[in-house]
Amino acid sequence: MADLLGEMRRSHHCCELSAQDVGREVVLMGWVQRRRDHGGVIFVDLRDRRGITQVVFNPELNAEVHAKAHAIRSEYVLAVRGKVEPRPEGMVNPNLVTGDIEVLVSELRILNDAQTPVFMIEDQIDVSESIRLQQRHLDLRRPRQQRNIITRHRAAAAIRSYLNANDFLDIETPFLTRSTPEGARDYLVPSRVNPGQFYALPQSPQLFKQLLMISGYDRYYQIVRCFRDEDLRADRQPEFTQIDMEMSFVGEADVMATAEGMVAHTFQEVLGKPLDTPFRRMTYAEAVDRYGLDKPDTRFDLELKDLSEMMATSNFKVFASVVAKGGIVKALNAKGCSSFSRGEIDQLTDFVAVYKAKGLAWIKVKADGWQSPIAKFFSDAEKAAMTERLDMAPGDLVFFVADQAKVANEALGHLRNHLGQKLGLIDESAFHFLWVTHFPMFEYNPDEKRYEALHHPFTAPLEADYDLIESDPTVARSRAYDLVLNGFEIGGGSIRIHDMDLQRRVFSALGMAPDVYEEKFGFLLAALESGAPPHGGIAFGFDRLVMLMCGESSIRDVIAFPKTQRASCLLTNAPSTAAKSQLDELNLRVKATVSAEAD
Ligand code: AMO
Ligand code: AMP
Repeated sequence: MADLLGEMRRSHHCCELSAQDVGREVVLMGWVQRRRDHGGVIFVDLRDRRGITQVVFNPELNAEVHAKAHAIRSEYVLAVRGKVEPRPEGMVNPNLVTGDIEVLVSELRILNDAQTPVFMIEDQIDVSESIRLQQRHLDLRRPRQQRNIITRHRAAAAIRSYLNANDFLDIETPFLTRSTPEGARDYLVPSRVNPGQFYALPQSPQLFKQLLMISGYDRYYQIVRCFRDEDLRADRQPEFTQIDMEMSFVGEADVMATAEGMVAHTFQEVLGKPLDTPFRRMTYAEAVDRYGLDKPDTRFDLELKDLSEMMATSNFKVFASVVAKGGIVKALNAKGCSSFSRGEIDQLTDFVAVYKAKGLAWIKVKADGWQSPIAKFFSDAEKAAMTERLDMAPGDLVFFVADQAKVANEALGHLRNHLGQKLGLIDESAFHFLWVTHFPMFEYNPDEKRYEALHHPFTAPLEADYDLIESDPTVARSRAYDLVLNGFEIGGGSIRIHDMDLQRRVFSALGMAPDVYEEKFGFLLAALESGAPPHGGIAFGFDRLVMLMCGESSIRDVIAFPKTQRASCLLTNAPSTAAKSQLDELNLRVKATVSAEAD
């Protein structure tokens, strides 16, 4: 292969030249965005990741170079030498940074040709995401993708500089490790040298960062890949990146202040956007009561109201019986929506059914009274009480869900988000940060008939609630906190248990017998006994943070090589089957049915 570059070296990038450079000889290299033939003169938009410069081939100036330029097609890779000229009168492009000038080419090297791309390299394209992912090398050339990936880099750089300046140490932790309980399934890696044994890829570096505190490193961080085999969504990938941090000798307020400082620094550096700190705080109980969800989108109001007490004695048996069985009745007043059609209300009923709501009762407030399938059940006094409690006025549409608290809150909480979008109540340019604190320690899993840690088993309980660990686990509150941005959980952390006896009590409350927790977490218990300082920390979902900074709605758009909802990589076709020789070496046999399907 000839050395196509020869002596040519770039003098500028494709965004840099302006009227001030007129008369200079420059060398540019990049990809052909577009080639246009204008009565003999050929214009090429030359693109690199920084921008576009128009280069011109004029047959009267250089017939040989012009003849060569005829071969140029989209996405060819070029090197050009030429002189910067002002664009002729009327040809100035004010939308382009380099729109005042063009480069008159005297030397052209076609560094590579290219197949006609499957889609245009521009932001507005109409192709499916699977084609974009199969052709990711092309997709990543699109300006929006390039901006996202560069923003991601700049955010990581800002985060590192903030944490480095605040005395944090960047320490790596293993990928081939033991299971770390964060509530998802593990990705397992078979060990060749230990037949029949497996490593787990870390769901997070949780235990290692706690051990680092016990070893005296004081402040740790890592921008680190985590692996979770869970159901995927727009904001979940099987491998994703955390900004993971841990601090010694701290309480909640210290971790929160550091996290706020880091986020504010990053928004300032990357987006030039100052943020108000400290961020707003709210307890878990209040968030769920007012918004139905533990990650409320606080960019708009539309709050839920609890009507359980009022409905306990109501003639509407559906509601009264739910309350009698320990459930709740909650309502949401969609102001000014009384013109919603039956079809629209049916759609919303289907929407809440996804969250297991058994129905969606409604009342339209018209000028001449209520229109509703359930109005007939309520006395005048009840109607007056509801009108006041729900601030009902003509034009409003009120929705109700009666169910167990979890179902009613989740259904109406998601309905609230949906209506916020549908009614245009959300300021898309706003960033609303919210700390949610005082999460419950435990959640009961009725399928497995046992308690589970809501955060993870290493989170400390509130001291006032120690006694509840055994007596009333779901009421016990923890020292966990989440950071929510515009309705997305972008970070979560806690103050940890640093006392071995308390850690044992929590393991026991989670239904683990001593031999089980000794086998799984004996190394942690031993470390806790070796002089563990009080410590706590947080981990941010870096992909989610960058997604929101970029104004994207999927983390796939801020990850260079993401996976699909089925956890596959369409570019490389991973995962794939393994050769028999590899399986033999690992002492593994794949079930016959599976291998037949995979073939
Ligand atoms: P947690 O499990 O809450 O906490 O995770 C921290 C943050 O990571 C992000 N996140 C994800 N992002 C993309 N895809 C996923 N599958 C995914 N899962 C989680 C979320 C979440 O807030 N060790 C603890 C942290 C600690 O206690 O310090 C932990 O991992 O934004
Ligand atoms: P029914 O008497 O079952 O026909 O229900 C009357 C209205 O109440 C319908 O609009 C149902 O959608 C609604 N509904 C039924 N069950 C519930 C529930 N658990 N929560 C809220 N609305 C319900």
